[in-house]
Amino acid sequence: MNFYPDTPTSQTIELMAYLIDVPTFSDERGNLTVIEKIIPFEIKRIFYIYGVDDSVRGGHRHHKTIQAAFCIRGSCIVSNNNGIEERDYLLDRPNKGLIIEPRDWHTMHHFTTDAVFMVLASETYSPEDYIREAYP
Ligand code: TYD
Repeated sequence: MNFYPDTPTSQTIELMAYLIDVPTFSDERGNLTVIEKIIPFEIKRIFYIYGVDDSVRGGHRHHKTIQAAFCIRGSCIVSNNNGIEERDYLLDRPNKGLIIEPRDWHTMHHFTTDAVFMVLASETYSPEDYIREAYP
């Protein structure tokens, strides 16, 4: 599987999901990562997924919700399809984020057993915001 390169492509909302590098302060005591002024929306909800077996999670897109996804422990793969192209992103460090646009059909899979997948979302939870029909 080919992963989309780690190098952030843009800090602005664009047609496809994009990676962000989160500022991190590292010294001999360890690392401190700060999520501040880099999320392109107001955060209204935070959820995290962990203890995942070999299941594929997600499998939807949204009407409105923008998300910023992080694997703050372990790793997983996020596959995105914006209706035009599909890209696979490997989230394998706590300071690498993926901005997922509403139009991006996304699935999360290949979770390591220790993976903690954290999502910051622009909207509160609403089943009506989900589109469960995949792109043809
Ligand atoms: P689900 O959408 O199946 O998760 P995934 O996208 O990882 O496949 O959500 C699992 C359950 O959690 C489902 O009953 C809905 C509920 N849920 C909430 O109540 N609030 C939330 O913010 C989210 C994301 C899910």
